[in-house]
Amino acid sequence: MTQSSSVNCEKFLSDLEKAFSISLNHIKVMISQFHKEMKKGLSGHESSLKMIPSLMDRPKGDEKGEFFALDLGGTNFRVLAGKLDGKRKAIVSAVSKFAIPKKDMQGTGVQLFDFIADGIDAFLTENSIDRSKVYDLAFTFSFPVEQTSLAAGKLIVWTKGFTAKGVQGQDVVELLNQALERKLIRCINVTALANDTVGTLVARSYADPTCDMGVIMGTGTNACYREKLSNIQELQSLNPKEHMIVNMEWGNFDKVRLTRYDRQVDEASVNPGAMYLEKMVSGMYLGEITRLILMDLMKRDFIFIRNPDSAEPFQKKDSFKTGDMSLIEGDETENLHEIERFLENHGISNVSLYDKTVLKRLCEMVSTRAAGLGAGAISAVVSWMDPELKDRHTVAVDGSLFEKYPGFGLKIENTFKKLYGEKAENITLVHSKDGSGKGAAIMAAVAASAAEMQKS
Ligand code: GLC
Repeated sequence: MTQSSSVNCEKFLSDLEKAFSISLNHIKVMISQFHKEMKKGLSGHESSLKMIPSLMDRPKGDEKGEFFALDLGGTNFRVLAGKLDGKRKAIVSAVSKFAIPKKDMQGTGVQLFDFIADGIDAFLTENSIDRSKVYDLAFTFSFPVEQTSLAAGKLIVWTKGFTAKGVQGQDVVELLNQALERKLIRCINVTALANDTVGTLVARSYADPTCDMGVIMGTGTNACYREKLSNIQELQSLNPKEHMIVNMEWGNFDKVRLTRYDRQVDEASVNPGAMYLEKMVSGMYLGEITRLILMDLMKRDFIFIRNPDSAEPFQKKDSFKTGDMSLIEGDETENLHEIERFLENHGISNVSLYDKTVLKRLCEMVSTRAAGLGAGAISAVVSWMDPELKDRHTVAVDGSLFEKYPGFGLKIENTFKKLYGEKAENITLVHSKDGSGKGAAIMAAVAASAAEMQKS
């Protein structure tokens, strides 16, 4: 690289870093905009935050029973079996995981739910489950659903790349039941439906009563928290002293500053104009934002100039993954060997140390912005519940980004410290692995005991 082009590249990178940086001031503005949108959503007005009541509060910790759970998240779905011991412990005894093929995510609803029913069938067979009995199943469905009862709800809109036809506006439990019937699976009774954030909060609060918020940072991003019934317009007539978990659908928050790369990602997505925060924060999109910047740098001859074929491997949309960013950002070796090996595996050889450093910088820029926005969103919710930060708040977090991306959780916690000083100690982030399935099962147990109470 000539001296002048390296100067140009540095200038270009530092401008980009500015465009991607999230200052404390940004976060403060974000928090106040979040509060406005929350208020609008809760009072039934048009808002980028849907604020959907889950019809559930936290469990008490004494719920008991055996469970089956179906967890349809992003690219995978899982079937689980387990037990609640009635003493704040949920034990998972069997899990099967299935990757959802793109053709089923983007085909018809019948195709998608048949694929899920086949997975349940395989799970029952693998675990030699007696099909002459009937089992309650809790269904975690990680999309925006208008909950009509504890075990029924209509899909409002698909997110995270799903487009299966004939599902929006329909009751997803009904669609699952129909698929089970088509496959002659008659030993399953769906008794609870929940968003994954709600499942995560419920699972953690079963074990820990200070948990009042559930967050997902994975393929998509979203959160739920405990809200006073008196703040929820449509439920104000119920006991105002009680609480309910509200699914915010925060991925759709739209008071954000988009760069031209974010706009490109949005335009090429299956849901343009929606889910802006999700597209800046979650695992489904971070790799793609980084790829677009990388392509731009290559076009300008700022990177990989010693390898003329270097554009090839990353030409295609989604060919650079958020998992690749984790690997790149996690490379702490002196000469960045791991990055070199990664590039070589993709057919890019003869790279300079400068190339590798620039690639790492791009990943850091995109992931640090995601963590900053995530921290802003969590702070907004905690400060909404408790403006003075007087109480302890355990935030249950799940999702591959939070779990696997190097330093992601730490960056969020550092932002809390900058915002709140010592009081930041009142916010504890805990990784609640696989919480969403367990949580839905706990709900099924709550639903079952509520039904029994009604009977007696
Ligand atoms: C998407 C969905 C939301 C879900 C989140 C995390 O944002 O709309 O319902 O909770 O992904 O899986």
